[in-house]
Amino acid sequence: MAAAVKQKQAASVALVFLLAVLVAPPPAAVVAADGDGTTHLSFFMHDIVSGSDPTRVQVIKGPGSAVTAPALGMSFGDTAVMDDALTETSSPGSAALGRMQGIYMLSSQSGAALMVCANLVLTSGDHNGSTIAVLGRDDTAADVRELAVVGGTGKYRMANGYVLWKTTSMKGADATTQLDVYLTTGNATTIDAGGGGGSSGSKSSSGAGARRAGGGWVRACAVAVVVAVVGSSWGW
Ligand SMILES: *[C@@H]1O[C@H](CO)[C@@H](O)[C@H](O)[C@H]1NC(C)=O
Ligand SMILES: *[C@@H]1O[C@H](CO)[C@@H](O)[C@H](O)[C@H]1NC(C)=O
Repeated sequence: MAAAVKQKQAASVALVFLLAVLVAPPPAAVVAADGDGTTHLSFFMHDIVSGSDPTRVQVIKGPGSAVTAPALGMSFGDTAVMDDALTETSSPGSAALGRMQGIYMLSSQSGAALMVCANLVLTSGDHNGSTIAVLGRDDTAADVRELAVVGGTGKYRMANGYVLWKTTSMKGADATTQLDVYLTTGNATTIDAGGGGGSSGSKSSSGAGARRAGGGWVRACAVAVVVAVVGSSWGW
C-alpha cells in the first residue's frame, strides 16, 4: 500500500518537473547543443572608409605604386587602423554589440590578402567588457575566410577558436562583413553553464549575438523526458 503511494508521488514529481522544464523559456542564446562547450557568436562589421567619419583609416602607405587590391584601393604594405562597429544584423542601425579595433595590412604582393590583427571589443549584455583577439589572413578574393581566435579576456579568457569572415556587401570601399566566431575557453563548462548573470539580461545576451552550443537547457529537457517515461512506466 505504502509502496503504491510512493510510486504515485514519484510520478507526480516527475510530471511537475517535466512541466517546469517545458514552461521555462530556454536561455535566449541557446540554438544548438553539440555538447563540446563551443560558443558561437555572430556579428556584422561595418568597415567605413567614406564620408567625414570613417571607421577605417590608412596610416601607412606601402612603397609600391601598383594598386594590388583595386576594390580596397590598397597596395602592398598599406596599413589601415580600424574601429569598426559590430552590430546584430547587416543593418548598421541594428543593435550595437561592440567594436572591432585593430589593423589591416595588405601583406600579399599578388592579391588582395590582408593580415588582420584585431580585438573584438564586446559591449552588450553580459559580454560587456570582454574581448576576443583575432589574428589571421583575410584573402578578400575568397568568399569565406577563416581567421584564428588566439585569445580573449573576461568571459572569453583563454579563448581558442576561429572566425568565419564573409563580406556581405561592398559600396565603394565600404564593406559589411559577417563574422561567425566559434570558440572554446579553458572554462568551457563555466561558460556553458548558465548565461553568466542568470536570467537577468538574457534579453541583452541574445542581443549580444551569442549562440551557445552545448546548453544545459537541452540536457535538462532530455532528463525530464527520461524521468517522465520512467514515471509513467511505474503505472501512474
Ligand atoms: C558597459 O560597461 C561600461 C563600463 O562599465 C558601462 O559604462 C556601459 O554602460 C556598459 N554598456 C552596456 C550596454 O551595458
Ligand atoms: C573559470 O572557472 C573558475 C573556477 O570556476 C572561475 O573562478 C573563473 O572566473 C572562470 N573564468 C572564466 C573566464 O569564466
